[in-house]
Amino acid sequence: MKPAIRLENVTKKFDELTALQSVGLSVEKGEFIAVVGSSGCGKSTLLRLIAGLLPATEGSVMVNGHHIDGPTEDVGIAFQTPVLLPWRTVRENIALPLEIQGARRASYEDAIGRMIDLVGLKGFEDKQPHQLSGGMQQRVSLCRALIHDPALLLMDEPFGALDAMTREQMNLEVQRIWMETGKTVVLITHSIIEAVFLADRVVVMSSRPGRVVDVLDVKVPRPRSFSNLGDPGFQEASDRIRELMNANGMVE
Ligand SMILES: Nc1ncnc2c1ncn2[C@@H]1O[C@H](COP(=O)(O)OP(=O)(O)OP(=O)(O)O)[C@@H](O)[C@H]1O
Ligand SMILES: [Mg+2]
Repeated sequence: MKPAIRLENVTKKFDELTALQSVGLSVEKGEFIAVVGSSGCGKSTLLRLIAGLLPATEGSVMVNGHHIDGPTEDVGIAFQTPVLLPWRTVRENIALPLEIQGARRASYEDAIGRMIDLVGLKGFEDKQPHQLSGGMQQRVSLCRALIHDPALLLMDEPFGALDAMTREQMNLEVQRIWMETGKTVVLITHSIIEAVFLADRVVVMSSRPGRVVDVLDVKVPRPRSFSNLGDPGFQEASDRIRELMNANGMVE
């Protein structure tokens, strides 16, 4: 089977600045990958390369066996901030990718309803973003990333701005959605706990220019719960990530 994502020797430069250096990574279909690394090490750049929003300077980026040279419908992306359109309702914000694809409204009303159910936004369909909490806005953003049913879901620190309780809830929600849909997920996060809680494998990046320092397995069965964070599998993985981050001069 072709990997869902394959990066070979990818380097990304912005003029003189090297953001990513010789990055190699292979992600299987249905895998959940988390990426950790210090601020400015190139995580968002990595995600944009996979989504086809930026070209690589060197090396190759493949998604589902295809070379990526522009935005692709195979990919859904939830950005660091929800970037919802303030004048549109929840329903209309979620519909945006489908409208851009030119789908007819009648053909996607049901899909939007199912997505709203999936993330627990029922009853808020006709509200505007300013009438929602931060966590609810992130849920809308997640729906919008998923609505065109992409095989690959990319999330860039989607829960960084949320309080600890809401964040745990969203982590459980993401685990459930991933288990129900079987999508391939890449999650960027600053939180080691979030990374080990959600991911099958955690990619640890060096500070700029970003390189892959190591990729760690998290050997904890699913579904996972926060009351099991003391499990040896979680402990082993998070200790190792901390070690690597310290050894590479990164602070959490
Ligand atoms: N479009 C751009 N033009 C020029 N430089 C850029 C651009 N995008 C990112 N950079 C630079 O590339 C480096 C990596 O940025 P990137 O946003 O990928 O980091 P990051 O790991 O996502 O950081 P953070 O954790 O703070 O979000 C930074 O030094 C940044 O200034
Ligand atoms: Mg970033």
